[in-house]
Amino acid sequence: SDPRRRDFINIAAVAWIGVGAGVVVLPLVNQMNPSADVLAQSTTEIDISKIEPGQAIKTTFRKQPLFVRNLTPKEISEADAVAVSSLRDPQTLEERTKTGKKNWLITLGVCTHLGCVPLGAGEGENKGPFGGYFCPCHGSAYDTAGRIRQGPAPRNLEVPQYTFNSDTVVTVG
Ligand code: FES
Repeated sequence: SDPRRRDFINIAAVAWIGVGAGVVVLPLVNQMNPSADVLAQSTTEIDISKIEPGQAIKTTFRKQPLFVRNLTPKEISEADAVAVSSLRDPQTLEERTKTGKKNWLITLGVCTHLGCVPLGAGEGENKGPFGGYFCPCHGSAYDTAGRIRQGPAPRNLEVPQYTFNSDTVVTVG
């Protein structure tokens, strides 16, 4: 047969597969990258049943790091012992947690200075001089209520909107 004609048929077949794949792939890509307004309304459900007092987990919420921490009674009293008026961003632990669930500190894991992820949520990580979180980028130190206590960060770690669905499940957003 004519070799040039076979080449043409092969190229045409490859091009056709290419078009087919493109049609299939595009909707998938769109699903994996929700538009900004969809993302802004998304919620995240978190199982907190395995987080023991003194432990925290790092997860994500609207593509940002999120820390969920189960404070020990000692960490709660350390936070409560601070004179609120002495704070750069004055807030009580009570104001940063839900009624009757003061041990659950839920914050974004985003330093309010320039947005690095502070240490302290992971097992064995440096919690800094105030026992909460420590940002290694420029040394901001947060206390056990996630409040800024030292370093350049202007504000406390942000507490997102969330609700307890039960004692063990939280919906953030
Ligand atoms: Fe955390 Fe600068 S980004 S101290």
